[in-house]
Amino acid sequence: MAKIKIRNTNETITGVEQVKAFLNSQNILYEHWDIGKLPDSLRENFALNEADTRQLLAVYDEEIRDLAKRRGYLIWDVIALSDATPNLEELLKKFEQVHTHTEDEVRAITAGNGIFIIKGSGDMGYIDVEVTAGDVISVPENTPHFFTLMEDRKIVAIRLFIEKEGWIAHPFSDPEFA
Ligand SMILES: [Fe+2]
Repeated sequence: MAKIKIRNTNETITGVEQVKAFLNSQNILYEHWDIGKLPDSLRENFALNEADTRQLLAVYDEEIRDLAKRRGYLIWDVIALSDATPNLEELLKKFEQVHTHTEDEVRAITAGNGIFIIKGSGDMGYIDVEVTAGDVISVPENTPHFFTLMEDRKIVAIRLFIEKEGWIAHPFSDPEFA
């Protein structure tokens, strides 16, 4: 279940309804998918082959299409990161730079953990949103953010796009991270 930390105040927010209400107040979509639907072969599996990927997308086909219909996504895929990922360190360095996109960045986590660090509204500063299996989050377009893994250094997520070009990262220079 997602957990929030507001960096400036160290305030934490937990619990589905509280997390959802806070993220919605920041214009950040938050939903939850039923992880009980996952077959054992896809739990704690971070080296997905093509058949695994197809199966994962099939398991959540209804949820994906529902979200896509509501929010206009047209394509989706699966990303898996773990120590088995070639160049994981380089990838993480790239991910850990503050940036924006012209589309929202939607991720449905199906295994592992990660943190989205997102610039809050007004003078709130950055918030850490820890996500885990079942969490669905969307960072709004043009909102500065970055992503990193947690201690377990592994995650599987379904990504949805309006068009792939919308996901190009535009660096956002922020003195907070200079
Ligand atoms: Fe991003």
